This record gives sequence, C-alpha cells and structure tokens, in this order.
Amino acid sequence: MAQTVQLIRVAELPPGQCRPVMAGDLEVAVFNVDGQFYVLKNECPHAGGPLGEGFLEGPVVTCPWHGWQFDVTSGQAQGPASGGRPRQAQRLRCEVDGEWLKVEVP
Ligand code: FES
Repeated sequence: MAQTVQLIRVAELPPGQCRPVMAGDLEVAVFNVDGQFYVLKNECPHAGGPLGEGFLEGPVVTCPWHGWQFDVTSGQAQGPASGGRPRQAQRLRCEVDGEWLKVEVP
C-alpha cells in the first residue's frame, strides 16, 4: 500500500534545480520545473545513475553518468542517447501541502 512521505520544504529547491532526497528507505530525485515539482526514482534506467545529481534544463534532466536525457514530467527518455528505445524512469506522485512537498512511495 502506498505511503505519503514528507520530502522537503518547497522553498528548499528553487526553480531549475534538482537534488536527491531520501523518502523513507527510497532514494528519489526531486525536480523543480518553473515552480512545478516532479519526483522520479533516483535511478537512471540505463545503468542506475543518480538522476537527482543531473543537469536540469526546462523539463529535461541529463543523467550525470552517460548523458541520457529524461522528461521529468513523464519519466520518458528523450533524444538519441537512449537509442530510441522506450526507456522510462520511474515517476512518483507528489503534491505540495502547505510549505511541504510530499511524495507517495510504494
Ligand atoms: S546511468 Fe544514466 S545514462 Fe547511463
């Protein structure tokens, strides 16, 4: 059963930034795209790289290990680096509740 976990205060992550955060026992990557928050599992589907330590430009994060790119709003891999294969980073539901960002973990 899913559980809602308090992640970070929204003020801690300005627009255009991302970072890894522990959500209970699960490491997730949090992204702020123009004030909208998105959360992916902090594990690139290529080889497990930490997406939360990647470079975020608009809604696209570039994995710091081998440069694959993902749309953080969907988790879908983008561009030629993924070899055109439908790779998907696991997305988690999140919501802003007052000053906190909360995430649903499985
Ligand atoms: S582990 Fe992310 S691109 Fe290779």
